[in-house]
Amino acid sequence: MKGASSLTLQPASPHIGADVLYIDVAEVIERNDTAVLDAIQQAIEEHIVLRFRKQKLTPEQMEQLGRHFGPLLSLKRKNNDAAHIQGVDYLKIISNVQQSDGRPLGDGSSAPQDWHTDGAAKPVPAGYTYFYARKVPGVPPKTYWMNAYLIYESLPADMKEKIAHLRVIHHEYPAGNEFPLPPSKSLEERQVGPQHPLVRLHPTTRRPVLFLPHRDDMLVVDMSPDESFSLISRLRRHAAESPYWWTAAMEVDDLVVWDNRSALHKRDGWDQSLERIVWHLANEGEPPIPLPESSRVA
Ligand SMILES: [Fe+2]
Repeated sequence: MKGASSLTLQPASPHIGADVLYIDVAEVIERNDTAVLDAIQQAIEEHIVLRFRKQKLTPEQMEQLGRHFGPLLSLKRKNNDAAHIQGVDYLKIISNVQQSDGRPLGDGSSAPQDWHTDGAAKPVPAGYTYFYARKVPGVPPKTYWMNAYLIYESLPADMKEKIAHLRVIHHEYPAGNEFPLPPSKSLEERQVGPQHPLVRLHPTTRRPVLFLPHRDDMLVVDMSPDESFSLISRLRRHAAESPYWWTAAMEVDDLVVWDNRSALHKRDGWDQSLERIVWHLANEGEPPIPLPESSRVA
């Protein structure tokens, strides 16, 4: 297997992200060049987010790319079949565009979003996410990615000790992570959802990552609501104030791939009258891996 050195990578920031230069992803797919595809996977592990500019991909090629890295996630939503491209099974449209019949062209809106992990409220959150920009406003909104390894590593030692084996209930709440964040659900409703480790191990690098809850009001298993709030809001503040992020405004024909196991992401909002269309694909992840019971916390 060729290493990531077979690609030309240009780091995008000191902490996360890289541009992959001089590559035609469609051509790599058509050639089924597994050495280059394996090098891309190695580069994602290393840089967490990769951007490929000026790409020309068909829906089929984008799905083929995703399949190389594992099973694809079904992103189908009930009552929104307009968000799916004919002829492919997994690609979904994310857009704020309203069609002439009033139906949305795709999932999503133009609202800003808070830091999140795709699929966190599911028992098996997403692995890689792929965004391919098809139409953007004149001043495109920025997306932000945060290195979640470094968020964890920069916590004080006593905090690492405290959270090492805690689990959080990731309850569902309306409108995802979009601002304005909706009010809290009832305590009873917040007790329903998958219980994920607050510190998870990346499945391949085996490095610990802070699996940041999306809301301050999520409940920590076996902890009172007040204590949970105080702990989670402190962790969310630590993440929000961390410097380990990169931001980029996606331009048309930009393809961006990131690993949800090691990145948080969010985006700015934009004027609802301006249209943005992005093709969206994701790999199935795996149930988050807790730190081993016996592990010592640095
Ligand atoms: Fe997302």
